[in-house]
Amino acid sequence: MVLVVGGAGFVGSHVAKLLRKQGTPHVIADNLSSGHREAVLGSEFAHCDLRDPADAARRRPPQPAEEIMLCAGSISVGESVRDPDIYYKNNLGAAINLLSAAKKTVKKVVFSSTAAVYGEPTQIPIAEQHPTIPKNPYGETKLAIERLLQWYAAAYEFEAVSLRYFNAAGADPEGELGEDHDPEEHLIPLAIDAALGRRPPLTVFGDDYPTHDGTCIRDYIHVQDLAAAHLLAMEHPCPPAINLGTGRGHSVNEIIRAVERVVGPVPHEFGPRREGDPAQLVASSQLAKRALGWEPENSLEQIVTHAYEWRKAHAQGYATK
Ligand code: UFG
Repeated sequence: MVLVVGGAGFVGSHVAKLLRKQGTPHVIADNLSSGHREAVLGSEFAHCDLRDPADAARRRPPQPAEEIMLCAGSISVGESVRDPDIYYKNNLGAAINLLSAAKKTVKKVVFSSTAAVYGEPTQIPIAEQHPTIPKNPYGETKLAIERLLQWYAAAYEFEAVSLRYFNAAGADPEGELGEDHDPEEHLIPLAIDAALGRRPPLTVFGDDYPTHDGTCIRDYIHVQDLAAAHLLAMEHPCPPAINLGTGRGHSVNEIIRAVERVVGPVPHEFGPRREGDPAQLVASSQLAKRALGWEPENSLEQIVTHAYEWRKAHAQGYATK
């Protein structure tokens, strides 16, 4: 049985959908603080808050889970700087409570980590051996979980792998699941909403970066490809950490043009840099290919198209019927 912690969230719900499709028994555990009950679809669901050890003990998710996909967590870099307490409790604290409860029964843990563990890159593309010097509590707490996982895995004899996502984007190609954050801060959904006239013009954060067009470069990876990598990571022996990106970078201006090709003109203006944004984050995806046999299948056009289809049908996210 696979336990998908955070399975009502953006990535976790796509992981659970693939598990359903391949008929793998699983349970979603989520506290619904940022996840959505509507994203659980046909999976078994346990409403459970791992931040509180007493609650976790009282209403522990069904045990024993042989595999755990740990997809839960708070994800906003800016918020983590303003209020680190949330990140230490929601990310690190919840992970400790979960692993304390599961350490004797679990065989494999697949953890949702992030490119934010690298901090300011000194080399592009970024390989897994790149120094990990996070610049914010979000990256710090993810790195702390990566490290504790390795100690726990060695001591309690289970396998663990941290999947370092670059920029998760897109939506379920079948239109059942999509991105619904509150507040939404990610570039692609904001650009789509601006093109649909649902928001004020997009502000591009900085056009004076040392990149070919002055705007920041990121490696956007389709959520469906991320989900597929989780299932492969569950099945294969893995190194401690694996990047999940395409190995190709796109600037903010290029993303705007990609959204314009799919949706129409994106009203936008140029503003100051956002604090803490590195100029470029692009993955080396060689290890994922070698260790998992994984390669992303979706192009940037597909990322934008699926994200657009979801937002067109769900103006208020999951609240839209
Ligand atoms: N951007 C804008 N305007 C906006 C929003 C974003 O110009 O309104 C730019 C950002 O400056 C950045 C790019 O678009 O250059 C992408 O920004 P996102 O907020 O969509 O994503 P980030 O790259 O900031 O964050 C992602 C993940 C985080 C993770 C981080 C790793 O969402 O969880 O990568 O650094 F921590």
